[in-house]
Amino acid sequence: MIKNKDISESMMIKLEEIFDELPDTPDFVKGIRRAPKRDFNLSEKETGLALKNALRYIPEKWHKELAPEFFDELLTTGRIYGYRFRPKGRIKGRPIDEYKGRCIEGKAFQVMIDNNLDFDIALYPYELVTYGETGQVCQNWMQYRMIKQYLQAMTREQTLVVESGHPLGLFASTPEAPRVIITNALMVGLFDDQENWHRAMAVGVANYGQMTAGGWMYIGPQGIVHGTYSTILNAGRTKLRIPHDKDLSGYLFVSSGLGGMSGAQGKSIEIAKGVGIIAEVDYSRVQTRKEQGWISKVFDNPAKTFKTARICQDKKESIAIGFYGNIVDLLEYAVDHNIKIDLLSDQTSCHAVYDGGYCPQGLTFDQRTEYLRTDREKFKTYVDRSLRQHFKLINILVEQGTYFFDYGNSFLKAVFDAGVKEICKNGKNTLDGFIFPSYVEDLMGPMLFDFGYGPFRWVCLSGRKEDLLKTDKAAMECIDPERRFQDRDNYVWIKNADKNRLVVGTQARILYQDAMGRMKIALKFNEMVRSKETGPIMLGRDHHDTGGTDSPFRETANIKDGSNIMADMATQCFAGNAARGMSLVALHNGGGVGIGNAINGGFGLVLDGSERIDGIIKKAILWDVMGGVARRAWARNQNSIETSIKYNEMRKGSDHITLPYVADEKLIKDLAAKAFK
Ligand SMILES: NC(=O)c1ccc[n+]([C@@H]2O[C@H](COP(=O)([O-])OP(=O)(O)OC[C@H]3O[C@@H](n4cnc5c(N)ncnc54)[C@H](O)[C@@H]3O)[C@@H](O)[C@H]2O)c1
Repeated sequence: MIKNKDISESMMIKLEEIFDELPDTPDFVKGIRRAPKRDFNLSEKETGLALKNALRYIPEKWHKELAPEFFDELLTTGRIYGYRFRPKGRIKGRPIDEYKGRCIEGKAFQVMIDNNLDFDIALYPYELVTYGETGQVCQNWMQYRMIKQYLQAMTREQTLVVESGHPLGLFASTPEAPRVIITNALMVGLFDDQENWHRAMAVGVANYGQMTAGGWMYIGPQGIVHGTYSTILNAGRTKLRIPHDKDLSGYLFVSSGLGGMSGAQGKSIEIAKGVGIIAEVDYSRVQTRKEQGWISKVFDNPAKTFKTARICQDKKESIAIGFYGNIVDLLEYAVDHNIKIDLLSDQTSCHAVYDGGYCPQGLTFDQRTEYLRTDREKFKTYVDRSLRQHFKLINILVEQGTYFFDYGNSFLKAVFDAGVKEICKNGKNTLDGFIFPSYVEDLMGPMLFDFGYGPFRWVCLSGRKEDLLKTDKAAMECIDPERRFQDRDNYVWIKNADKNRLVVGTQARILYQDAMGRMKIALKFNEMVRSKETGPIMLGRDHHDTGGTDSPFRETANIKDGSNIMADMATQCFAGNAARGMSLVALHNGGGVGIGNAINGGFGLVLDGSERIDGIIKKAILWDVMGGVARRAWARNQNSIETSIKYNEMRKGSDHITLPYVADEKLIKDLAAKAFK
């Protein structure tokens, strides 16, 4: 029988290398948000398994002391986080030179991980949750410590493998291979459901990575501001008939959520020059957004809220107002007082609707947290009742001319699960979709993703603001604002990016770009690194992109050839990025819409100024986007077909996309009808 002593002697990378003694349990800083208790219904045997699993990271000499502590954590929080191993105080993404490592990528990813866990950035920093209620960097602090150790030890000849937060180890590879390959919560089909996922999380074998939380590429709410700005603006253009060169002056947008991503709504509506009211039940989040200047005023009274909005609409002044209260109460007031809402959405975390993501009408935020701890069954009935009322109010508003869209938070699905069958187009099930569109189906899909426009981003790893300003300018010079209205929006965005004070955490920027635009900017940046105009730069993107995510209720909601239930595209994107040498590749289950509802992936590419990186940019960045455009073209999406035809022309001899012949609708309709006569 192998002894723990042999195990310890066989490993060079282990917690004992950092700690001679068991570290003290750290104090929790007051006012920092804490995750609610997670669902805990493990059997006795599984409880034992969870303890044994967590102790795998712990040397035997500490088992006696830590086993009861982990047991207590499991019972009180529903998980074993190993709080004791969290570094004391605030974690933040520091300048790259302050990190140890044997290769630049090893240091760069430590910056990214720490940025994801910054108090200013992370939703529940103590529980390693970056955003989206449950999106974690990894499962526990033991993993965090070991990942850091591995990144410090890693050379250009090795690849670190991370499976659901667990650092499996370093394996020999080549400088051209990714330095880090991450997968999160990929489950075998038969078990790919909420119940098994909860069990796997509690037992300590699954991590919910959301998108850029477990992919280490989150850059704070700015990452979402640009997409939200484009979405709201395009909603106005298509539904309120606002001309392409005008903004949302005088129009009212109402939504909920001032959390991780939803927190971007206030800033976005102000940039689009409209008036926004965002409801939020958690006062700490209202406060954070107010302090950041991402909302300008706060009220807890619907009358005052709507009155202030009206005054600003009349004066054509843009403003983001935080309503401290429940969105359902706010909408009830609007219906009762005949208030005209132009654009309406919702960004509560309905992908985790019964786990605290949606606070039901009638409960305060604290009561919601208490119910999650004490009576989940009753809590569920409150959530369902509230969702049904929420739906009823939206219907009334829509009848009065409001345009409502689902913001990819599984709201429509949650309403369906709460028993409202009328929300489905066929009145029965979700197979034919919902009566309300998702923002991707109506807006982002056809207007952005189908062309390849998506959330390209970068982080100036030096931590210097001058670097960010230089990159902003360089990126702006790469855009031709006259080409399409999307380019003009992106040009305006990057021109005003610094003025709009978007940075929270590391010096980072988001900029929607298409395939060629991304490549052009990436090459320019690498040249700037080479000439030492800036320090090294991390390139990445949100997984929520043209080709990164298969998600029938969201990113692929405008894929209508039946393939929206397939996950080939995201998987191919991940594999193709690995093959072409991205520095980090990640593939996740779930993302913003919940486990089993999506497969999504992303990348990180460290620009070190080398010619090797120029070569990777030319192949990988184009593939990353065009794989998605090609699939969208094959689904007969017009804008993707057009983009692919141009690409085939431009890339003759190197790339070639298969295009679909389009059948005559009448021919097909008549034949299909015959089958049912
Ligand atoms: N912004 C985007 O571009 C985008 C894109 C895709 C999906 N989403 C989805 O949007 C959702 C929100 O994301 P997040 O990162 O902000 O999550 P989050 O959990 O950080 O924030 C959601 C916020 O909603 C608040 N809330 C819950 N119920 C409420 C209620 N009834 N009334 C008012 N406020 C309420 C919560 O207190 C919380 O602060 C997720 O499901 C995410 O997947 C957002």
